[in-house]
Amino acid sequence: MSIAVVGLQWGDEGKGKVVDYLAKDFDVNARYQGGSNAGHTVRLADEQVIFHQIPCGVLNRNVIGVIGAGCVFDPQVFFDELENLKKIDPHIEKRIKISRFCHLIFPYHILIDKIREEKTKQKIGTTKKGIGVAYEDKYARVGMRMGDLFDRELFEKKLRMNISRKNLVLMEIYHAEPLAESEIYNKYMNYAERLKHMVVDDTRFLSEAMHDKKNIIFEGAQGALLDINFGTYPYVTSSHTITSGAGIGLGVPPCAIDDVIGVTKAYTTRVGQGPFPTEDNSEVGQQLRASGHEFGATTGRPRRCGPFDASIIRYTARINGVKKLFLTKLDVLSKLDTIKIAVRYSNAEEFDPFHADKLRPVYEKIPGFCKDISHMRNFDDLPANAKKYVTFIEHHTGLEVSYISVGAQREAVITK
Ligand code: IMP
Repeated sequence: MSIAVVGLQWGDEGKGKVVDYLAKDFDVNARYQGGSNAGHTVRLADEQVIFHQIPCGVLNRNVIGVIGAGCVFDPQVFFDELENLKKIDPHIEKRIKISRFCHLIFPYHILIDKIREEKTKQKIGTTKKGIGVAYEDKYARVGMRMGDLFDRELFEKKLRMNISRKNLVLMEIYHAEPLAESEIYNKYMNYAERLKHMVVDDTRFLSEAMHDKKNIIFEGAQGALLDINFGTYPYVTSSHTITSGAGIGLGVPPCAIDDVIGVTKAYTTRVGQGPFPTEDNSEVGQQLRASGHEFGATTGRPRRCGPFDASIIRYTARINGVKKLFLTKLDVLSKLDTIKIAVRYSNAEEFDPFHADKLRPVYEKIPGFCKDISHMRNFDDLPANAKKYVTFIEHHTGLEVSYISVGAQREAVITK
């Protein structure tokens, strides 16, 4: 049995908690795209863990985590994250595998991402982690992969070529200081030693796991509206965030995915630039930000907030093949007297990522439930208006809500 967990909005839907919650019944948790731009949060009894690159089901000790070929990998961020996880499970390293095909992030990727965001007009509102620049190198066929780390001579040659090109860009276009090759070379050779026992051919590892009837959970990062093809381009990330990304990001066939769980917040948020039809800059938006702690897990930036947009979910569920919804952060709405939901647009048949800046949402209102629901674990215990809200979402998205998260804690989930 295998499932994919994908975000249906602009990321930050709560996929970390969802994957951690579901992974207890799985053997392998494979992440297929993105890198340290992701911030997947899992709240344990007395601490909060933020995952950036490591699949977040690995806190379940039965789970092997795979960082797939479609990811871009920052070794320093990885080791910082690993050290943190070792405080919880000192043997966690044994359960982590990294694809030899995934591309490496280098300091020049991060530097160029930062310069573009801070000093040029080419601003996307990125996380400044070098993600887009590393994917640019990948598709320009000059990138360096995990497997390259283990051939010193070739690595040095490729690094020299890359640094000389990047230094030219840094000096001539951005008027910045050039980077020194030897420092980067030594650092990455040191990483190579520390990484080598974790590096695998992920395609082989996963096909053997499937052959052995292991249960696999595929983990997407960011959300469908940040997908490079189908998101609100150019305000997107540089990878394939949708379900099909699992195939190209891990080398598994499409039929390897039995079920798709779409994660959506009970409202909408976005961080960074770009269109957002239901954005609410009034008190309601501010209240959502405060109650939902809507600040980026990777960058700390305040997230833009607004009502749930059913048209978005109809669109993203379609392109992801979603059959069930995992509705998160329902508890955050408990302070609202009235809850607004955008059910359609007055000027378009459906969500259109090409013209998302022009869409005019039509709202319906339902009464709020005005009660703390974070301790509730049964659907029947929810206040009538909270149940009504969930049913309303099911009606307007055409999808079943199978799970509802009512708090940050691991166990704060209602299975419907
Ligand atoms: P990048 O992925 O850092 O290049 O950023 C591109 C866009 O994706 C920006 O709008 C970011 O804010 C957004 N983004 C990237 N990663 C995440 C995430 O994990 N959650 C939410 N937004 C993200």
